[in-house]
Amino acid sequence: MIRKAVIPAAGFGTRFLPASKSQPKEMLPIVDTPAIQYVVEEAVRSGITDILMVIGKGKRAIEEHFDRNFELEMELGEKGKEAELESIRRISSLADIHFIWQKELNGLGDAIYCARHHIGNEPFAVLLGDTLVESSLPVTEQLINIFDRYQESVVALEEVEKSKVSRYGVVAGSQMAKDVYLIDDFVEKPSIEDAPSNLAIAGRYVLTPDIFDYIKQTARGKNNEIQLTDAMRLLVGNRAMYGYRFDGRRYDIGNKIDFIKTNISYALMREDMRTELIAFLKDVIADSGR
Ligand code: G1P
Repeated sequence: MIRKAVIPAAGFGTRFLPASKSQPKEMLPIVDTPAIQYVVEEAVRSGITDILMVIGKGKRAIEEHFDRNFELEMELGEKGKEAELESIRRISSLADIHFIWQKELNGLGDAIYCARHHIGNEPFAVLLGDTLVESSLPVTEQLINIFDRYQESVVALEEVEKSKVSRYGVVAGSQMAKDVYLIDDFVEKPSIEDAPSNLAIAGRYVLTPDIFDYIKQTARGKNNEIQLTDAMRLLVGNRAMYGYRFDGRRYDIGNKIDFIKTNISYALMREDMRTELIAFLKDVIADSGR
């Protein structure tokens, strides 16, 4: 049973400056909810009850968001704003949420390594804090189902355009069942020529706890950082690991254009906004062509 998850959210968010200068990019709203709350809700819907967030300097707003705010609750209660009261109370009771600080930003592998004592000796999920996935079955639950079948680590995979492989960790592997790949190798952010496929790591993982031993052995790689992808590369040298082409749509909220697309897509899913937004978009598009 997978009950713990790690959400790394320590990075500076340099792709989102100046917005991320003094506020965490993970707190930027998608419609009316901070992006990271969607990530937590996905974990909770997947059966996770314990979440460790790896945060860094300037990320206190994330802690406060998941804490209770008694003054606000009292204010809303006195004004009879029951729906708002319920929505903010809910946030602090979603799961047991813990925080740890990544003291130096040494990469994703190093961020995950910060979780080793908290995780102990059990398999766990990783959900990148700047990646949202819209799907009917939460993508973490999809990965847990594959983990239950094979009892080995699993990463979510997404087919990307060949021209974009250098943004991602990319896998080499062979297909074993519908959407399931046995992985032979990983490469973090390869050039188009060096990419072994166009199957990219999509920001969701279920890992066995021996990953911590492999992270410890991992030398600095791409961008002079300790890469989780390089640690998984060491792991596949010794034991099986799987990739799962998940069912759903991924949104990277860490860069500007995708953030805007995510907001539009999520607003279009909202009944209270959909009609007005479509009319507005049609207008803007018509105007911009003039
Ligand atoms: C990280 C991982 C990469 C993965 C990507 C997905 O990169 O290192 O393997 O494909 O997330 O978003 P980042 O986007 O943090 O540079």
